[in-house]
Amino acid sequence: MTANNDDTDKRWYGRRQGKPLRATRRRLLEELLPKIRIDPQPDQIPPDLSRLFASPVREVWLEIGFGGGEHLAAQAEKNPDIGFIGCEPFINGVASLLKHIEEKSLTNIRVYDDDVRHLLSLMADQSFGRIYILFPDPWPKTPHHRRRIVKQETLVDYARLLKDGGELRFASDHQGYVTWALWHLLQNPDLHWLARSPRDWRVAPDDWEETRYEMKAKARGDLPVYLPFQRIARKG
Ligand SMILES: C[S@@+](CC[C@H](N)C(=O)[O-])C[C@H]1O[C@@H](n2cnc3c(N)ncnc32)[C@H](O)[C@@H]1O
Repeated sequence: MTANNDDTDKRWYGRRQGKPLRATRRRLLEELLPKIRIDPQPDQIPPDLSRLFASPVREVWLEIGFGGGEHLAAQAEKNPDIGFIGCEPFINGVASLLKHIEEKSLTNIRVYDDDVRHLLSLMADQSFGRIYILFPDPWPKTPHHRRRIVKQETLVDYARLLKDGGELRFASDHQGYVTWALWHLLQNPDLHWLARSPRDWRVAPDDWEETRYEMKAKARGDLPVYLPFQRIARKG
């Protein structure tokens, strides 16, 4: 089953819009977004996602819930040979990413300004070299746990979408979600935890770029936990 079919609870994210947008950001939504937006129609998603990018890319990486897009823009700037797909339904966050894209003249980002679930089943197996899920909404109340973006059904999709040896990078400062995510990740037979010592979940990987939520968590004194998992090679 793909996560797309799990629609018993429609809401997986919080607000769609926050405070009114300034003119520059409204212009970016009107002019830049249509140029780089992904259309979630089956005939618009090529089996090889690298074809979504104007310049050749050696691999495609996905960020789910990019917030203000600081991490996504920084990774895209650092890795010009990678194509990035970012999904985020919060429109102020999308506008913030567009501002980074314009300021840094980035050409290797495509955006889906809505719920990642609409895309998951449309994308071919082994589409991504890396999937980032950074500081996702924790949905702390038990009846809301099924809204969490990491759970059994979605992990089946993420593992299917990762190439052999590809990485799923999860991070959170919410201890309840960390425990939940680790339990579910360890249950998935196609994913392998890369940690070799406690340092590996306490310290961000070397090529890390701090996210806005991560900065806020650290400022509050909450310790982020980093859980890198690798896609186990398919047999045959
Ligand atoms: C707590 S914020 C973290 C943002 C960012 N990753 C950071 O660390 O600064 C979680 C984000 O995930 C987004 N989100 C939640 N559910 C989503 C979904 N189904 N598809 C895509 N994004 C989602 C929310 O809109 C929100 O911006």
